[in-house]
Amino acid sequence: MKLCVALDLPSAKENLSLANQIKDYDVWLKVGFRSYIRDGKEFLENLKKINPNFKIFLDLKLYDIPNTMADAAEEICKLDVDMFNVHASSGKIAMRTVMNRVKNIKNRPLVLAVTALTSFENNDFKEIYGQDILSKATQFAKDSFESGLDGVVCSAFESFEIKENTNKNFITLTPGIRPFGEDAGDQKRVANIDLAQTNLVNFIVVGRPIYTSKTPAIIVKNILEKLN
Ligand code: C5P
Repeated sequence: MKLCVALDLPSAKENLSLANQIKDYDVWLKVGFRSYIRDGKEFLENLKKINPNFKIFLDLKLYDIPNTMADAAEEICKLDVDMFNVHASSGKIAMRTVMNRVKNIKNRPLVLAVTALTSFENNDFKEIYGQDILSKATQFAKDSFESGLDGVVCSAFESFEIKENTNKNFITLTPGIRPFGEDAGDQKRVANIDLAQTNLVNFIVVGRPIYTSKTPAIIVKNILEKLN
């Protein structure tokens, strides 16, 4: 299981300082809306300057008509990133169009699909999607698998069921991880590392428990120790 650290701080300077503090650890970095909208491509380049071995997950959650998503995916593949994502609710046609566009690109990034955001609890989710989280997230995962994607974003609670219904090598990446009982914030389906491990999660994403800590490098070290 890999640790992916969310770089969601209010400035590039703070994110780069965090990356510097954890540069000797074997971690992935997650660059999401806040950082990419503000700091763009140059920020990604600056992260790789700190440590060229950092793997970067560009978390932009594409959702649009198929051709627009494929155009965006193709542009993402020109950036030096190792993973990006789309929404599974964009549908199988959109996901297939994306994969057809990127599948022959040399060293293409991994492509994941968001199933049910970890900030949803079942009732709110059902109001929008008309189904319980576990069954709909599993269905989204099957759609993504059949469309040729590499994996999904889900919560640790759905990971096992998703693997059973797709393939054990189909990647699950789970935000909403609170390693040492930290505050959940806006996350609803919060899990700890043990549960993620039991449910065969491949990547855990941790943001606030690390970047709001006064000693982020120590938190990262403690998490990595639990992963080994
Ligand atoms: O601070 P926290 O650990 O809750 O951060 C989780 C990160 O994962 C945030 O950057 C959030 O945007 C992202 N994320 C999520 N749920 C998803 C996909 C991404 O929380 N389904």
